[in-house]
Amino acid sequence: MKFSTIVVAAVSSAIAVSGTPIEKRQIGGVLLCTGANATGTCSYNVYDLKTCHQLPAPYHHNTSTFAPDGEDFECFPRIGDCGSICTSPTGCTFGAVDFSYKNKFNLGAIKWNTLISSFDCSLKTPPSTE
Ligand SMILES: *[C@@H]1O[C@H](CO)[C@@H](O)[C@H](O)[C@H]1NC(C)=O
Ligand SMILES: *[C@@H]1O[C@H](CO)[C@@H](O)[C@H](O)[C@H]1NC(C)=O
Repeated sequence: MKFSTIVVAAVSSAIAVSGTPIEKRQIGGVLLCTGANATGTCSYNVYDLKTCHQLPAPYHHNTSTFAPDGEDFECFPRIGDCGSICTSPTGCTFGAVDFSYKNKFNLGAIKWNTLISSFDCSLKTPPSTE
C-alpha cells in the first residue's frame, strides 16, 4: 500500500513536469486476446503493478495478443503459474513487453502464445526525453 502511494506520487510529478495535459488514466491496462491481432476472446483490465496475475482460461497457454497501454510501464509474461518457483536466471520470461513491443499482437511469432501462464507489470525507469 505504501509503495503504490509512492508510485502514484512519482508518476504525477513526471506528468506535471512534461507540461502536457494528459487525461488521468490508470496505469497497468493490458489487452489480452486468445487470437493474434486482437481477435478471438479478449479482455481488457487494469492490473495492479508488482503483482503476479494468473491467466485464467481461455487465456492460460492461449494468448496471442498481449498489448499493454501506452503509459510508462512494462509487463513480464511468465512461463510459470503465480507462486511457482522459477529457477531460471532469466526469470522465466522472454523480457519486458510494453506499448511498443513489436510482437504484442502476435506472441506466436516467438512461440509464447502457448507458454504464457501469468504476468506481472511494473513502472519503467524513466526513458530519456525525446
Ligand atoms: C496481423 O495483422 C497484420 C497487419 O494487418 C498482418 O500483416 C499479420 O499477418 C496479422 N497477423 C496474424 C498472425 O494474423
Ligand atoms: C483458446 O481460446 C479460444 C477462444 O476463446 C478457445 O476456443 C480455445 O478453446 C482455447 N484453447 C485452449 C487450449 O484453451
